[in-house]
Amino acid sequence: MKDIARQRLGINVEAMDLLNSQIKMEAHASATYLAMASWCEQNGFFTSAKFFYAQTEEERGHMMKIFKFLVDVGGNPISPEIGNINHDYASIVDVFETTLDHEIAVTKSIHNIVIKARSLGDITTERFLDWFVLEQVEEENTIRDILDMIEVTGTEGVGQQMIDNQINNWID
Ligand SMILES: [Fe+2]
Ligand SMILES: [Fe+2]
Repeated sequence: MKDIARQRLGINVEAMDLLNSQIKMEAHASATYLAMASWCEQNGFFTSAKFFYAQTEEERGHMMKIFKFLVDVGGNPISPEIGNINHDYASIVDVFETTLDHEIAVTKSIHNIVIKARSLGDITTERFLDWFVLEQVEEENTIRDILDMIEVTGTEGVGQQMIDNQINNWID
């Protein structure tokens, strides 16, 4: 982008580049949760599949929220290329543990952008990200609660199907 165009931006250029990376990360999360839904369907965890269908839509929503923000500030949102989607999981426990790892990585990434925006004096971006900071608290909490439930239920015998049934508590 030419410097003159960049001067008309309502956002710092470095912050915009970071938000474009975040768009990609949210799209990757959306695609990963769809792959997890596929794994759950094939392995008989039908309630967990429903949970991941909802998650894939939510992450797409996050991506679009950032995309539209970049449009509003006169920026250049990039439709991301996504690759490297893992479809292989060892167990239902592995699926949810991987989900927590993903969410923690997303939280860190958003916090890094907030810190960067603050250091740049980009108040608009910092305020915009408030919603995401709180959303991540909720998402991490949901997955931690599910992992606690898994630990209490155990995976022996009918444990795995009991786990799947209880996932219904986390579907809106
Ligand atoms: Fe997200
Ligand atoms: Fe998320």
